Amino acid sequence: MSAPYYQDDSVTLYHGDCMEVLGELTSGRAESAAHVVVTSPPYNMGLTPGGNGRGMYRPGANNKGGRFREGYGDGDHDDAMPQPEYDAWQREVLGLLWELIPDDGAIFYNHRVRVEHGRARLPLGMDFGPAVLRQIITWDRGTGIGVTGRHFCAVAEWIMLLARPEFKLRDHSASGMGDVWRLGMERDRSHPASFPASLPARALDASAARSALDPFAGSGTTLVAAKALGIPSIGIEKSERYCEMAAKRLAQDALDFGGVA
Ligand SMILES: C[S@@+](CC[C@H](N)C(=O)[O-])C[C@H]1O[C@@H](n2cnc3c(N)ncnc32)[C@H](O)[C@@H]1O
Repeated sequence: MSAPYYQDDSVTLYHGDCMEVLGELTSGRAESAAHVVVTSPPYNMGLTPGGNGRGMYRPGANNKGGRFREGYGDGDHDDAMPQPEYDAWQREVLGLLWELIPDDGAIFYNHRVRVEHGRARLPLGMDFGPAVLRQIITWDRGTGIGVTGRHFCAVAEWIMLLARPEFKLRDHSASGMGDVWRLGMERDRSHPASFPASLPARALDASAARSALDPFAGSGTTLVAAKALGIPSIGIEKSERYCEMAAKRLAQDALDFGGVA
């Protein structure tokens, strides 16, 4: 098993490729490794299929996509795979996660619809491999990406709830929160694509999660939320820079955590 990059009483963070580390976790099949997964993969923002290969956003454009023209800025992931390759990779990751979670487990998979060449592209063409889609939750970020004359500015992202047959919410009040989550955006922008801690916090709390996993941990937001809720968690992140960022957040005495919104 790979050596953890960071570890404390409740969190283990691995620096590595999630396919490799998930393979190791699956073969070890630690019973409580991952009851609930909350994750946001790279969105493959850097390439226009059939386009010029330099990204779908104009150079120098002051928008989120513009910041992704060079991937995550660390040379580890350029976020510009041919789309079929990207979709196949994501299905493979979901397949490993699906194997890892128990019969009452679930995956909260954050992704977004985007418009390419005048046509909506849905996440993975809505084919999640073996994972079963139970519900789409709308995350209202409160602010938009990509103002254009061609379509309405996207203010929302999706959280696909991929759930094993016995997955249940904590109780009826968790269900009563509804399927539109108005959580805004992360204010600390040191990671280019982080979600607010209230997002994994709500997912984990509503699921009465026994343990949490994020295979694309980024700045460690899911781990921070899990720790604050007293839930053991595992994270995997390919970029050492973001591992360092996550480790710093996790080592803080008073976690920077907005609570369960
Ligand atoms: C959308 S970001 C996740 C942000 C995270 N939710 C947060 O709040 O900070 C996706 C992350 O996946 C990482 N990544 C890309 N390819 C990876 C791989 N093969 N294995 C593990 N992490 C990877 C990127 O470095 C990036 O930090």
